[in-house]
Amino acid sequence: MTIRVLRRRYWLMRRLVGTSDLLMFRAVAPGLPPAAADESSGGSSVFVGSVGAHIDDVIASAPGAMAALVRARARMGHCLACLRGTDGTVFSSGWVTVGPAVVPFEAGLRLAVPAGVTYLWDYVTEPNWRGRGMYRKLLMGVIKHDPPGRAIVIYCAAANTASRRGILAAGFRLCGTVRIQRWGALRRFTAGGRSWWSVAGTVDLDRLRARSLEAEGRKA
Ligand SMILES: CC(C)(COP(=O)(O)OP(=O)(O)OC[C@H]1O[C@@H](n2cnc3c(N)ncnc32)[C@H](O)[C@@H]1OP(=O)(O)O)[C@@H](O)C(=O)NCCC(=O)NCCS
Repeated sequence: MTIRVLRRRYWLMRRLVGTSDLLMFRAVAPGLPPAAADESSGGSSVFVGSVGAHIDDVIASAPGAMAALVRARARMGHCLACLRGTDGTVFSSGWVTVGPAVVPFEAGLRLAVPAGVTYLWDYVTEPNWRGRGMYRKLLMGVIKHDPPGRAIVIYCAAANTASRRGILAAGFRLCGTVRIQRWGALRRFTAGGRSWWSVAGTVDLDRLRARSLEAEGRKA
């Protein structure tokens, strides 16, 4: 068997079988009046929205496939959050979804976000701007922008140190861990010390959170 065939089989197996260990975090919008569309500080601004000049600029400057993705997500009602410099350079960006809504998730799953929850996903800092606090600043701006008292949820892979530290530095608190194991079309979830199976499809954020929070309660 050639190296090429072995490699192809390896990647096929990786798609069918695998484990994702995730950390779930929660913050509560601090009760300030909802911020205006932008929040300026130290030569950069945070913008959150699904329409407007900031999103048009991002679409205009993004490569073709990325521009199409941004346009499609905005059309579905997801809001783009971005931290930009005074010259319009995007340092860091990601998505803000207000539930009820369905968003892409890990392991080929989709996630149902319930009403009353704001869910943050697919954040990235441009490689040249990493390690300069851009992610932390963006997440802090997003928390401030959300209506008072609302639960804001974000997750990262347990191995993603930069993301975990940025999320914690922005004011989120760890609210639980979730393990997802892929076996072909089957998914095995472990959260809050309990496991359950499901077929690939849509998983409820409430269910993951409830199990995770239960575990926190037991530890406390
Ligand atoms: C994760 C990511 C968004 C962080 O962006 P960033 O703007 O570089 O993050 P920040 O500069 O705000 O740093 C956040 C924290 O991580 C730490 N950090 C940054 N880069 C790090 C690295 N490579 N390794 C370890 N820690 C790192 C910082 O020191 C900071 O921690 P501190 O507040 O305790 O000092 C960026 O690395 C990225 O785009 N990664 C690829 C996509 C990704 O993983 N997205 C996250 C999906 S949940």
